[in-house]
Amino acid sequence: MRHFIDFSDLTMPEWEELYRRCEDILAHPEDYRDVARGRAMGSLFYEPSTRTSFSFQAAMLRLGGGVFAMSDPGVTSVAKGESLKDTVIMCSGYADVIVIRHPGEGAALAASRYSRVPVVNAGDGGHLHPTQTLTDLAAISRLRGHVPGLRIGFCGDLKHGRTVHSLIRALSAFPGCSFFLISPRELAIPGYLRDFLGRSGQRYAEVTSLEDTLPELDALYMTRVQRERFADPAEYERHKGVYVLTGDKLRAARRELLILHPLPRVDEISPEVDGDPRAAYFEQARLGMYIRMALLMRLLDQPPSPLPPLTGEGGPRLCRNPNCITARERYLPALEAHGACAYCERPFAL
Ligand code: CP
Repeated sequence: MRHFIDFSDLTMPEWEELYRRCEDILAHPEDYRDVARGRAMGSLFYEPSTRTSFSFQAAMLRLGGGVFAMSDPGVTSVAKGESLKDTVIMCSGYADVIVIRHPGEGAALAASRYSRVPVVNAGDGGHLHPTQTLTDLAAISRLRGHVPGLRIGFCGDLKHGRTVHSLIRALSAFPGCSFFLISPRELAIPGYLRDFLGRSGQRYAEVTSLEDTLPELDALYMTRVQRERFADPAEYERHKGVYVLTGDKLRAARRELLILHPLPRVDEISPEVDGDPRAAYFEQARLGMYIRMALLMRLLDQPPSPLPPLTGEGGPRLCRNPNCITARERYLPALEAHGACAYCERPFAL
């Protein structure tokens, strides 16, 4: 069973095929109206969402399929204490594909262990958001013409920004990209991502000034400071509003700059920027539905599989990350990958 937990679940030829399919859907949407007729998507959102939830639901509906959705766990049996495992076992008996967003890092990987049907990671805490990455790559490909050689600035809360983590890793698979990581030191990328950049020999710089970096960039990926991920509200208050992109600052940027943002925004892009021809974030979000249609088609094109064996449950919890899914769902077996927790990627010693 092929799931979609991280962008690395696709090979580069598979990504290229997915993007070609996305372009074809954009050009000939009528050809795709019935491809998922009779199929059902289970949408399990344990966290709020506008774009990811709605674009997945719209994608399935436009393919002729149906959707059942949890947008508030408080009105499902999760409120009675049902585990992620039991919820997923149930839903995978009703759906042909499951899309899950959860605050626990590694939750989608955990869900995939208990599913008869493909599981899609729609965001797992502050860890990854790979279908946003598909959206971002589709936007860069369509609006710039190509991805390789991109000089991209990531600006804002790079510590908690799962869209940033996913996109940096994905862009590292394209030749010649350079990363400018613009953040206060306290909101810099997590150590495991810095290790990845070092190990894989990527060109990157960690800087604090948006103004000084802007003229260097082909694309600027703005992000909000993620209030919901701060354990200490005072720390959020210290950092909110740290970067604001304004029309004035954009005077120093290239004419061909792509201004991207996964959205929602709070105050990090002034509304006056929306009218700038370089502002691509609303088009970026629109393209997300089409690339998700292509992804759903790919995942639905698999024979059903029996429930994976429920072995190896329990045992000591080795991961010390309080945001890891293993901290919430205690029955999960400790899984190791490259000396770190396979769910959240933090070293076991932390
Ligand atoms: N980009 C994104 O994930 O937006 P939502 O939280 O609205 O889904």
